[in-house]
Amino acid sequence: PKPLLAPTPPMGWNSWNKFGCNINEALVRQQADAMAASGMKDAGYRYIVIDDCWQKSRDADGNIVADPERFPSGIKALADYVHAKGLKFGLYSDAGALTCGGRPGSAGHEFQDARQYARWGVDYLKYDWCHTGPRNAEAAYTIMAKALRESGRDIVLSICEWGVNQPERWAPAVGHLWRTTGDIFDAWEGKKDWSIGMVNILDLQAERWRHSSPNAWNDPDMLEVGNGGMTSTEYESHFSLWAMLAAPLIAGNDLSKMDADTRRILTNADVIAVDQDALGQQARRIWKEGELEIWARPLKGGEHAVVLFNRGKAPAQMKVAWDQLNLPAGLKAKVKDLWSKQVTNAVRGSYGGTVASHGVIMVRITPDL
Ligand code: GLA
Repeated sequence: PKPLLAPTPPMGWNSWNKFGCNINEALVRQQADAMAASGMKDAGYRYIVIDDCWQKSRDADGNIVADPERFPSGIKALADYVHAKGLKFGLYSDAGALTCGGRPGSAGHEFQDARQYARWGVDYLKYDWCHTGPRNAEAAYTIMAKALRESGRDIVLSICEWGVNQPERWAPAVGHLWRTTGDIFDAWEGKKDWSIGMVNILDLQAERWRHSSPNAWNDPDMLEVGNGGMTSTEYESHFSLWAMLAAPLIAGNDLSKMDADTRRILTNADVIAVDQDALGQQARRIWKEGELEIWARPLKGGEHAVVLFNRGKAPAQMKVAWDQLNLPAGLKAKVKDLWSKQVTNAVRGSYGGTVASHGVIMVRITPDL
């Protein structure tokens, strides 16, 4: 059986969104230092994941070899460094002959690679789907899952086949998270090569809530907060909505150069608590009219998280009514605004306010007992 390694969505950092193939061991150490020192670790972020392009070749015995110019000290030393910070270490590979970046993939080397990862101290594997030819996705990911289990080390399996092989049918039994779409890029909306903007990804999540549960999470791709392509309001929406989706919170920015606003968003403890809620129930879009939407998810112990989301160009008055949450209209509740931190007691019937253009009001609703 699949090991219980992700009872709540994994939190961490990954090199891809900001750095692409432009990575090296000094950069990774710097990100680990920053995660530990910036408040990110205190907020719950744990995994430092090196994405594509760390690999160079295979040796005569078929062992995967890291790029000696970019990682001269080797992967084991880097994993040790990350672990010494109280963090966890992740790597990337691919189920094909080559990775998406053209480096050696793991096809035919699954057990050998998994044993190598275990020796190096890898805690998390993101496993991609380029250059797989006629391979069956379920079978390919099942082989790597077995290889990781037999490696003797606890390794989270992050499935990255972009939602193209109906992963909801098989991935929950195989991996701990699975991508549901093509790649995100750092924009409110739009398309760029194979990548799509933030709200385009959101639209592809609305029907996926029933497939997600503890240890088996939908992955709407990594965060772009702090990368500069969206406004601060839009990044608050991105982070709020990903938390509502019980998404893995994998920061994709340069942690060593975070401005105060980026740090404020990524370390918002109330929003993270919604993402990490023990019930593990992904939000549904419970209402939509034009450019206004309400997303809601029940939390453990009878609480609710709600996002009022305004995609429009002008501010909008919005509210959620208790009956939309299947709560009695006469119920009194405490409502906490998770961005302004304002608490309102004894709220009856509904709650709302003015939602900024491209912004959210995100609240936690606690019924009075
Ligand atoms: C694919 C994945 C991305 C990233 C790149 C690396 O596009 O979806 O997240 O890992 O490959 O090449």
